[in-house]
Amino acid sequence: MSDDSKSYDGPERVFSGMQPSGDLHLGNYLGALINWVRLQDEHECVYCIVDMHAITVPQDPKKLASQTREIASAWLAAGIDPERAMVYAQSSVPAHAQLAWIFNCVARMGWVERMTQFKDKAGKDSERASVGLFTYPVLQAADILAFKGTHVPVGEDQKQHLELSRDIAEKFNRDFDAPGFFPQPEPLIQGPGARIMSLKDGTKKMSKSDPSDLSRINLIDDADTIAKKIKKAKSDSDALPSETEGLEGRPEAANLVGIYAVLAGQTTAQVLSEFGGDGFGRFKPALAELAVEKLSPITSAMRDYMADPAQVDRILEQGAARARDISEPILAEVRRIVGFWGS
Ligand code: AMP
Ligand code: TRP
Repeated sequence: MSDDSKSYDGPERVFSGMQPSGDLHLGNYLGALINWVRLQDEHECVYCIVDMHAITVPQDPKKLASQTREIASAWLAAGIDPERAMVYAQSSVPAHAQLAWIFNCVARMGWVERMTQFKDKAGKDSERASVGLFTYPVLQAADILAFKGTHVPVGEDQKQHLELSRDIAEKFNRDFDAPGFFPQPEPLIQGPGARIMSLKDGTKKMSKSDPSDLSRINLIDDADTIAKKIKKAKSDSDALPSETEGLEGRPEAANLVGIYAVLAGQTTAQVLSEFGGDGFGRFKPALAELAVEKLSPITSAMRDYMADPAQVDRILEQGAARARDISEPILAEVRRIVGFWGS
């Protein structure tokens, strides 16, 4: 940690976000949401549905608000408690956009040009990508720092964006002679679920952008669909090993055993001590049964929330009001530090 981060002595606060695009899947649940739920017991948590990030690529305006409600429903169903954690849509709290502009003037072109996610998302035709897609990670830094977020639970893939957030925080504090004003947010990349792989290819991440729906388990899938997807999941013809080392070089077997372990709250070794020597003909039905047992309460709660959009809207509005209460005074200080008129 740099000297600057040492001089931040404000409270700890957890901040994270997810885009309102596509269905949530088992990777989002085991890689991110399970940690978010756990963190709300110990910390003040701010969980933001980042609809402003979503429009960096084209979105259907008729669907964006309902996708936002759908993500909120999934979070609530997974156990995020709106009485404790704040749950709201990014576009309903002005501090995100206000701070993002200031950070656009702090971040250097060279820093943002190094971000690999832009290169992946823009593809070959980067000339035609939106300017917003380029400055996406700057908005992400503003999300976190508008709340002086200190801890950010995310999957592996967000590490580079968090490094940029720290660089921006440090440069702001230095350029404006405000030591310790912004904290240096730390990523929390935790647990055996940090990287859940595709059910069709154990070397690829489970992802909402995979064209094959059989590659992932969606939180909205019903019990039959979950069982069918596990039955059809790619595996191999060997029996499961009794020791963890025996999974090396068997990515599909490792992924299925890993999913079982996280869902059951066991270690890989414990799973193998029970199933070592069994073929997939016996292991897959056991995994399907466990997945249905753990996911179906979430699926049914999610359907209940989605059937009551007015309730979800009330929760999002309350979350936004609390988020404005925290971020507005921080932004007022930022305006003063920058020297804006009237501040
Ligand atoms: P995304 O679905 O890419 O918008 O990601 C939302 C959150 O879920 C981020 O914190 C990701 O790091 C996490 N995540 C997405 N896919 C996976 C996966 N296959 N395994 C573990 N975590 C994931
Ligand atoms: N970029 C993140 C993702 O794709 C989403 C996100 C936006 C985010 N703002 C954030 C995550 C702030 C953590 C903190 O998953």
